[in-house]
Amino acid sequence: MTDATVHPLDPLGPDEIRDAVRITRELKDLGERARFALVALEEPSKQEVLEQLGGTERRARVQVVDPDARRAWDGVVSLSAKDVLAWDEIEAGQPPFTFGEFRLAVAAVRADPRWQDAVRARGVQDIDSVQIDPWSVGAFGAEPETRRLARCVSYVRTTPTDNGYAHPIEGLVATVDLQTGEVVEVVDAGVVPVPQETGAYDAEVVGARSGPRTLDIVQPEGPTFEVEGQEIRWMGWHIRFSMTQTEGLVLHTVGFEDHGRLRPILYRASLSEMVVPYGDTAPGHWWKNAFDAGEYGIGKMANSLELGCDCLGEITYFDAWFADDDGEPVRIGNAVCLHEEDFGILWKHTDGWSGRSEVRRSRRLVLSSISTVGNYDYGFYWYFYLDGTIQLEVKSTGIVQTAALPPGETPAHGQRVAPDLYAPHHQHFFCFRLDVDVDGVTNSVQEVDVVASESGPDNPYGNAFELRRTPLRSERSARRRADPSASRSWWILNEAEHNRLGEPVGYRLVPGPTTCLLAAPNSSIGRRAAFATETLWVTVNSPEQRHAAGSHPNQHPGGEGLPAWTAADRSLESTDVVLWYTVGITHVARPEDWPVMPVECSGFSLKPQGFFERNPAIDLPAADHCHR
Ligand code: NI
Repeated sequence: MTDATVHPLDPLGPDEIRDAVRITRELKDLGERARFALVALEEPSKQEVLEQLGGTERRARVQVVDPDARRAWDGVVSLSAKDVLAWDEIEAGQPPFTFGEFRLAVAAVRADPRWQDAVRARGVQDIDSVQIDPWSVGAFGAEPETRRLARCVSYVRTTPTDNGYAHPIEGLVATVDLQTGEVVEVVDAGVVPVPQETGAYDAEVVGARSGPRTLDIVQPEGPTFEVEGQEIRWMGWHIRFSMTQTEGLVLHTVGFEDHGRLRPILYRASLSEMVVPYGDTAPGHWWKNAFDAGEYGIGKMANSLELGCDCLGEITYFDAWFADDDGEPVRIGNAVCLHEEDFGILWKHTDGWSGRSEVRRSRRLVLSSISTVGNYDYGFYWYFYLDGTIQLEVKSTGIVQTAALPPGETPAHGQRVAPDLYAPHHQHFFCFRLDVDVDGVTNSVQEVDVVASESGPDNPYGNAFELRRTPLRSERSARRRADPSASRSWWILNEAEHNRLGEPVGYRLVPGPTTCLLAAPNSSIGRRAAFATETLWVTVNSPEQRHAAGSHPNQHPGGEGLPAWTAADRSLESTDVVLWYTVGITHVARPEDWPVMPVECSGFSLKPQGFFERNPAIDLPAADHCHR
């Protein structure tokens, strides 16, 4: 395909999804009930993209599950050559869930007499009103990996719009074979009364106080950005993006136009994996570990965003296309939101001598999407600022996982959020893969701490402090943790490009508040989510090393991904490096997190470090009405 209007990094369109599926079906002997768990663009190599090689072949990655054969494959299809270029049977782990499997699991559990008896034993008569949530089963060594499974937990809903999480059916877990539809196990750990207090949060139930007055954001001249296909240009920034099924919002070829020269910063930035491990030992909770990217597909779970609700102001929306179980293209309208936001002041000084005040307003470009995975909702926001800063913010909201508290008990591994109802302690980890290209593909990384200088003749007054710079020379030594007490940041430097001070140009990776995995290293989740045991990993860029917990984390016993790759201990000196930064939250729920939790923000920033000659926003014009 040499369609000039298609950029090599553009996601697959609906026709391309159909083509990929058709070619796969024609060339591979798939069973009657074969399901497509993934159909997505297989990106061309970085070299092909950067050197703008013409006529780049369009390729698709497909993952197919054959439930009858209990087999699954991961393949690469050439849309241009109408051929299957690679076709590997998945030996460890499983492709992500499909929506059809979710529906199958729910129907199977609802029809199971053991589950029905257990629900009725809790005094619930209306079986059809029970909400059944399928979960990834994890990998605890009890089941063969070829068996595709889901664990289901249940909640009572008193009305169609009720918040089921207020009424958990505690201790009842049904495991479903997704290949046969058989309920293979029903665990009933004993009746705990179903909490009765409503958790409804719609305005009809909770009421609405008299609201804040209208706040309109208007841009009479239109937004400052320009959009061409998947490329955005705004105030010097050049940003390409896509939505992928597994990673959600992905940034490509981010650069800044500096005095007429487009300077690269990031080749690709993506959510490589995320996991939500629960820290409760109760029968309904100890096994809960959701890899929301690799197991569920955070992109496929994206919301259709609404103007004035999800996004305020002058908004440009983008749709996203994914494949359903049969490989048919499915559109998510308004999956990505783009807009500008006033962000307070950017810089200011009042000169005491002249009385003159200079102030400039900060504005940021916001590219965002929101995904709902079961009870939780995650907003992913990439911000681009006028001073060269790139910021990633995850907004976690939605409803906490809940458990019914047996009468008279206090939760050991959770916090009460309502009478008889507690939220198990848990963590959220978001591992971002940052393929940095600061002024070129060859970069190196230093860990920079700010520490007190040693007392002595060189520090006669005891007031001194200094930078402690540690080059991260190889992959093993580049497994690092955040250290706010040392103001720790990681500097990504291009040793071949120098600024006017004679120093390498760079960007700093600046952590936000973060934490690491609390589960034991030898636990199932400790092995499977090893990426979350460190804040930062650095690897030599390898395009197939895309997902921090490996390519098939669903039911995978662990050991794949970052720990395996970095065991090679490749040299990181002046090469094409990739940084893997994990945002970690430990969530000890509050009553105020109930019934829907207010947004919890977390993330990191990439800030220019000697990349520009001075404040790149110094020449920003003052706002019209503040000239005096
Ligand atoms: Ni949480």
